[in-house]
Amino acid sequence: MADQNGYVILTAGETSLVLECAIGERPNMLYWGARLEAPDPDLIKAMTTRQHAPGCADTEIASSLLNETGTGMAGLSGFSAHRNGMAWASLFRVTRVLRPEPHRVEIVCEDEITKVRATHLIGLDPDCHVITCQTQIENSGDTALAIDWCASASLPLDPRATRLFGFTGRWSGEFHLEEIAPFLGSYVRENKSGRTSHDNFPGLLVGADETNEQAGPCFAFHLGWSGNNRVRVDRLSDGRSFVQMGEYFFPGETSLAPGEVYQTPPLYAGFSSRGFSALSRKFHRHLRYKVMDGRIDGKSRPIHYNTWEAVYFDHDHDTLFKLADKAASVGAERYILDDGWFGSRRNDKAGLGDWWPSDEVYPDGLCPLVKHVTGLGMEFGLWFEPEMVNPDSDLFRTHPDWILQAEGVEQIPFRGQFVLDLTRPEVCDYLFDCMHKLLSAHDISYVKWDMNRDVHHPGSRGRPAISQQTRALYALIERLREAHPNLEIESCSSGGGRADFGILRRTDRIWTSDSNDALDRQRIQRGASHFFPLEIMGAHVGPETCHITGRRLSMELRVATALFGHMGMELNLLEESAESLEVLKAGIALHKEHRDLLHHGDFHRLDTPEHVNAVGVVSDDKSEGLFSWCNLTGHRQTLPGRMYVPGLDASKTYRAKIIWPKPVRSISRPSVLEATDLGGEGMDIPGEALMQVGLQVPLLHPETCLIYHFQAV
Ligand code: GLA
Repeated sequence: MADQNGYVILTAGETSLVLECAIGERPNMLYWGARLEAPDPDLIKAMTTRQHAPGCADTEIASSLLNETGTGMAGLSGFSAHRNGMAWASLFRVTRVLRPEPHRVEIVCEDEITKVRATHLIGLDPDCHVITCQTQIENSGDTALAIDWCASASLPLDPRATRLFGFTGRWSGEFHLEEIAPFLGSYVRENKSGRTSHDNFPGLLVGADETNEQAGPCFAFHLGWSGNNRVRVDRLSDGRSFVQMGEYFFPGETSLAPGEVYQTPPLYAGFSSRGFSALSRKFHRHLRYKVMDGRIDGKSRPIHYNTWEAVYFDHDHDTLFKLADKAASVGAERYILDDGWFGSRRNDKAGLGDWWPSDEVYPDGLCPLVKHVTGLGMEFGLWFEPEMVNPDSDLFRTHPDWILQAEGVEQIPFRGQFVLDLTRPEVCDYLFDCMHKLLSAHDISYVKWDMNRDVHHPGSRGRPAISQQTRALYALIERLREAHPNLEIESCSSGGGRADFGILRRTDRIWTSDSNDALDRQRIQRGASHFFPLEIMGAHVGPETCHITGRRLSMELRVATALFGHMGMELNLLEESAESLEVLKAGIALHKEHRDLLHHGDFHRLDTPEHVNAVGVVSDDKSEGLFSWCNLTGHRQTLPGRMYVPGLDASKTYRAKIIWPKPVRSISRPSVLEATDLGGEGMDIPGEALMQVGLQVPLLHPETCLIYHFQAV
């Protein structure tokens, strides 16, 4: 869009950005928010003029795109670097503004004193309206430049954005949305786990007091990075607020030799005037069409059968064959052989690093099982944990020096394994060769790429190295994908510990959580849906008694929960009753019937009382919708309330039906089911009424999930 003497204006959809970038001045984001039809930057500048406040600097320190240390914004510097303790106060001024594409700008800045060039790469996706910000730092001096912190950008927050939500979590309890109490000062999360992490997912939501899922202005932020990160929000006493995200560095981790360049990971940011669900849809579309590489566009995502919770390390040949038969018979389309197939891996204490089929359990190699599975019409997938090694492995015995470590500091065991040093090319060559050999020799089209520990002392050759380790991981995955262009990869890290737009640029789905407990999953998947669309969220039907929580849940609930994701199964099908297999089979058929809608539709979270989780998808042309209403617990009032169906076309009429479970019953009768025949032939209801009047939900037991289908007639 238009550049106006010293300003760049980017507008797409309902979003406008006005950037100040006059040559010789400091770069700044003057405005970011709702679309402006005729923005006049000089006027905006005049309208937003601030002033001296008593007790403060004589002239207020103006913000800039990094609020770097030299600006004097000490509390929230977005760039802090030095040359052996000197040249620490960088202050960037614009020297050039480039427009590589109409919706992208590169603002090149220099600091002549500290000899640092900072280039801000900013884009506003014209189709999905997500902003991407990255910073490039070049050492233009002639001594080493140590970078302590470099945010992808320091973005100003709209003063009306009063409510802040961060993400917390833990293993088997990821993507927990938490509202942050109002504060003045800083909200800081630092992830030093060496992966995206379970507990510090780099995401942030900001809304106004009135913002909910369906209405109100809001902003979201996500760092597309799979290593250490820092998320911070600073609310200054002068009324201004800024968000920063970037890589977290250990001391000395990032130092640039003269001429060297560092580039931050991308910070994705979005604005919506229509609530958090609309904002999620922008991120979903941006991920689908702009971040992921499109290699599987046009292919339906196959129903998974994963062996982990069925057999763990007990890889009995006969059982695995029978499981494949059963899985195919209920509708599986891909069979994934999980941990336990290689080296001396008969338990989680040994074998990691020895990536060849175990002679003990696979005397004839993997070929017979792969052939059996593909002969049943399913794809074959294989589990790897490439970055890890057990001390009890041939690899470690041969190369004990190949691990990350801090010299003189004791290793901290974590699931009995150490982390390989991927910054050493010989380590990546070894891993590539092992995987390449297996993938070339078999019809294996899918890899579950796991990473099961935090990294505590990520040193390589004396220096901290997670930043380089993460880049080396990306390069290794890319190398493998280049060699196997049809290979699909799942990013797993003890469940959802490595789920972010950085890894998804190179992989195809995430394992959302190790918890297959459907009630946990309702909340986990809802949390993840703020940034991730359904088709990339692995969701499996687990055993009746959940292995992690011990909770017993019905097959109907487990199916309904896995249906809203990339569906799969992870239970011992040989122990299931005929009735429960029938329910499972029907659920899988239902997923296949609606898979296209689920995986390409527009996603909605509903605002509901505490006892409910309700979400849904609506097709692009609003001709069809599929919604899930899950009664997580009992409710306070006698009846569960109404479902106000979002996203439909008010002027269309829909045939409304409850299609899961079958048959659907209310606890007492008569109910809405009799009044409308929702559980049978359904009822034609205008979109307007579904959206504005709402549909009474029948009285249900806790832990019951209904799936509603709306088809325009
Ligand atoms: C991790 C994964 C699981 C499974 C095990 C195997 O915990 O998240 O799904 O693959 O490793 O060891």
